[in-house]
Amino acid sequence: RTLRIGLIPGDGIGREVIPAGRRILESLPSSLGLKFDFVDLDAGYDHFKAFGTALPEKTVETLQKECDGALFGAVSSPTSKVAGYTSPIVALRKRLSLYANVRPCKTVLSPAFKSPSTSPIDLVIVRENTEDLYVKEERTYPDPNGDGQIAEAIKRISTQASRRIATIAGEIAVRRQKMRQKANGQAVQKEAMVTITHKSNVLSQTDGLFRSTAREALSAPAFSSLKIEEQIVDSMVYKLFLQPQYYDVIVAPNLYGDLLSDGAAALVGSLGLVPSANVGEGIVMGEPCHGSAPDIEGKGIANPVATIRSVGCMLEFLNQPEAADVIYNAVDEGLREGKFTSPDLGGKASTKEVTDDIVRRL
Ligand code: NAI
Ligand code: MG
Repeated sequence: RTLRIGLIPGDGIGREVIPAGRRILESLPSSLGLKFDFVDLDAGYDHFKAFGTALPEKTVETLQKECDGALFGAVSSPTSKVAGYTSPIVALRKRLSLYANVRPCKTVLSPAFKSPSTSPIDLVIVRENTEDLYVKEERTYPDPNGDGQIAEAIKRISTQASRRIATIAGEIAVRRQKMRQKANGQAVQKEAMVTITHKSNVLSQTDGLFRSTAREALSAPAFSSLKIEEQIVDSMVYKLFLQPQYYDVIVAPNLYGDLLSDGAAALVGSLGLVPSANVGEGIVMGEPCHGSAPDIEGKGIANPVATIRSVGCMLEFLNQPEAADVIYNAVDEGLREGKFTSPDLGGKASTKEVTDDIVRRL
């Protein structure tokens, strides 16, 4: 089978790590029976500065019409407002109906580098990607009761979006449960579980709808092997930081999911390790969680692991779990041995050396 993959490096180290992702796809063992062809696509701030648009129509159309999957690097966003510029990643998620942002956070313990946790973390945050406060419907008006202004934002939660995000969280938890059983004691053992995160004690209508819809979706027979828990988001932060090893799959509305997943990335040691997949009804887009990292741009030392793991995430959601596993295992083995670690993990290896090492293991 040939899969067509759109490559969108974007800005900064996106241009250094996306080629590493491409090399991984090209180096997969032929016994997997997969072939890839690639199409290079533009997006980002540099493209905006040169051509006046951050997300060319051609990029969106090619992804919609031609591609099975995509790899997105990172884009820079200026700190002060620039007229006409909006972040292409937010627009892309919307245009391609990528309703779920799936972020696995996993530690590999190794004597070669220091990890903030002493026992391994292996959890997935499933973040709703289309609504909540991020519908960006804000307004500002004069305060009728005093001087100054009032600003407000809409928090929108729908049954449909809550149901589909809870369902995909349940499916991921079941798949992970089966993988752990298959790994036969070699994986970190834990109870298969989905934790629903919300604040319905205060926001009884919006988060209340998210909570009740997620509960209902997860009570389906397909999920009967899972433990379903819920956790109010502030104590969720507390427990996640105290005992991240406990968690399996966490499902959350957009804003809480954004905050929790960046926190979880800190717990596993480096932004350079954490991947994601944007998933919807059509195309699947892998994307490292980090940004364009201008402080290390052009030095050839960006950690490619987040992108390489994102290649695995993309393949997992393109129904190629075997290929995904081959990649995850090669990465974990490389990290465990720790001979080629990049400077963010305290090592000296370049982007190319880390990638070469993983390619060899494939
Ligand atoms: P960042 O993620 O780019 O960098 C944060 C820190 O982590 C830096 O010290 C960087 O060197 C380090 N780091 C990140 N990825 C690394 C890797 N693969 N290997 C080694 N070290 C790595 O976040 P920052 O500095 O806040 O933002 C820089 C730019 O990236 C901004 O313009 C921001 O808007 C953009 N950004 C874009 C995102 C996206 O495209 N999805 C996400 C986050 C930020
Ligand atoms: Mg974020």
